[in-house]
This record gives sequence, C-alpha cells and structure tokens, in this order.
Amino acid sequence: DRKPRVFSGIQPTSDSFHLGNYLGAVRQWVAMQDTTDALYCVVDQHAITVDHDPKVLHQRSRVSAAQLLALGLDPERCTLFVQSQVPEHAMLSWILGSETGFGEASRMTQFKDKSAKQERTTVGLFTYPILMAADILLYRTDQVPVGEDQRQHLELTRDLAIRFNGTYGETFTVPEPYIVKETATIKDLSEPEKKMSKSSSGPRGCLYLLDEPNQMRKKIKGAVTDSEAEVRFDPERKPGVSNLMNIYTALAGTTTEKLEAEYAGRGYGDFKGDLAEVVADTLGPIALRTKEILADKAELDRILTLGAEKARHLAVRTIAKTYKKIGF
Ligand code: ADP
Ligand code: NA
Repeated sequence: DRKPRVFSGIQPTSDSFHLGNYLGAVRQWVAMQDTTDALYCVVDQHAITVDHDPKVLHQRSRVSAAQLLALGLDPERCTLFVQSQVPEHAMLSWILGSETGFGEASRMTQFKDKSAKQERTTVGLFTYPILMAADILLYRTDQVPVGEDQRQHLELTRDLAIRFNGTYGETFTVPEPYIVKETATIKDLSEPEKKMSKSSSGPRGCLYLLDEPNQMRKKIKGAVTDSEAEVRFDPERKPGVSNLMNIYTALAGTTTEKLEAEYAGRGYGDFKGDLAEVVADTLGPIALRTKEILADKAELDRILTLGAEKARHLAVRTIAKTYKKIGF
C-alpha cells in the first residue's frame, strides 16, 4: 500500500527563513521525505495577497527553494516546486471559491488579523484560505502538517471537500491534520515572550538562516535572559534562557536536563558562548550551501521545472475529474 500523501507550503515572504521556520517546520519536512509521499511548495501566489515587489518576490522564491534544498529536501525523495508554475492551483481555487459560502469565508480569523495590518486589503487576502484548500485538494492529500494558525483553514478545506463530494459525487480526498512531534515554538531573542518571527521582532531578535556566522554569534550572545545566573529550564519564569536551551537541544540533540547539569554554577557566558558555536557550526554550512545552489542558476531551474512537472502530472488529473463533475 502507498505512503500517505502530504502537502505543505511555505511563503517566500522574506529574504531568508529564520530559525523558527527551520525548527518548527522545515526540519519536519526533511524527516517526512521517506515516510510519506510529500509535496513541498513555495507558495508565491499566496505571497501576492499582500503588498509585494515583483523583483523581490521572484528572487525570494528562488532563495526559498535553494534554502529548502540546502536544509535537506531532496528532489529525488519529494516533490519540490513553485506554486505559480502549476496553473491548476488557480483553476481549482476558482471552482472551490464558487462552492464556498461568503459567510463561511468571512469567519476566517487570520484574514481579520492580517487585514487589520494592511493599508489596503485585497480580495485575494480574503480568498487566501480557498487557494490553500485548492493547494491541498489538488493532490489528493491525506495529511497536512499544520500549526495552530492554519488549523481553521484546514477545517475549511475539509468542509469543502466533504460538501463537494456530497453534492457532485466522490472527487476529493478529505485531508487530516498531520500531528507533528511537538517542537517548542522558538521565541524572539530580544523579546522571549513573543515567538520568533520575521515580522514581529527587532533586528536582533530574529536569527536568519542566511545571517553571517558572526552575526549569529552576536545575536545569541546578545539574547535577553534574566538577572539570575542559573541555566535552568523554566519557560514561565525564565523564558529567555529556556528558549536558548530549546534551541541548543534542537540543534545539538542533547536534553535540557543534561544542559542544566553541564552548566551548573557556570553562569550564562559559557552557555551562550557554546550555543553561539553550535548555531554557527550547524547553520553556517547551510548558508554556504544555499549560496552554491543559487549560483548554479541552470541546475536550480532544472530542479524546479522537474518538480512542477511532477506536481502537474497529479494536478491535471484532479482538474479533469473536477471539471467533469462541475459541468465544464
Ligand atoms: P513568520 O511567523 O515569521 O511569518 P511563517 O508564518 O511564514 O513565519 O512560518 C512558516 C512556518 O514556520 C510555519 O509552519 C510556522 O509554524 C513555522 N514557524 C514560524 N515561526 C516559528 C517559531 N517561532 N517557532 C516554531 N515554528 C515557527
Ligand atoms: Na506567521
């Protein structure tokens, strides 16, 4: 029997992924390559639902794909592609949009949050969850790795699939959430009460995978901790230190108990210094590899074209079936 089909997307909305994106998402993607039949998509069509600069978007899509490859996605073991290269996403989105109630779409809370932050809100931002439903349903996806922020959108996807199947006959696979092994949310280095994010942090709070190693060291050494000097895991009372411990265990494969024992009575300086080296040693090579991949333009084009072809091979079948059912 076949492996479960998995679909996951990431938006090319920054010049580099950050440590939270890696530890909270991409690392699981890499691990799932062999246990599932996975499609991973740089969702550039989602990225135009807010203001964007065309040249920057194009470059960010390539950098995103290059980073995913550098982090360990292997085009032989998964399908990696850029959304706009597979026109069937937009085609299915139109059909699903015509099956979505206006009230149903209006209940999406992420739209309310995001539109409040925009000067100009687009219809595309409003229908974003419908495009996401198309992304997923196009590939007969069994499982979707989702964080808390995407749960409501996956619920909409399931509702649409179930309703469409009920109205027009069996067409879509109804996807399930993929429960990812609990990874701690990585917190902002300057404001450890907040999650690390490209949007919510100052320049020193977010550790980008493409930062220079020395920049990474500086950010770790400058991370906000507390007035004690005890390396102890206590996310409630010691959010800064606990965040650094989470980063340490995630990257070095150790445990918080071992770290507590190792740094007992030694203060934060040693701990931060060692973590700075762990971070620079593990992420430094990834930045270099990303640059190498970007430098070979033809090879990256080849990989993405091949990925889009593999994706389309599946997508056209779903579109053909759906068109027939809908009366086209
Ligand atoms: P951002 O919050 O910087 O806008 P995205 O929303 O684009 O990042 O995140 C893409 C993926 O990375 C999502 O699957 C999300 O769950 C994961 N992710 C983002 N920030 C973190 C974080 N601080 N800790 C863990 N995972 C994160
Ligand atoms: Na986000």
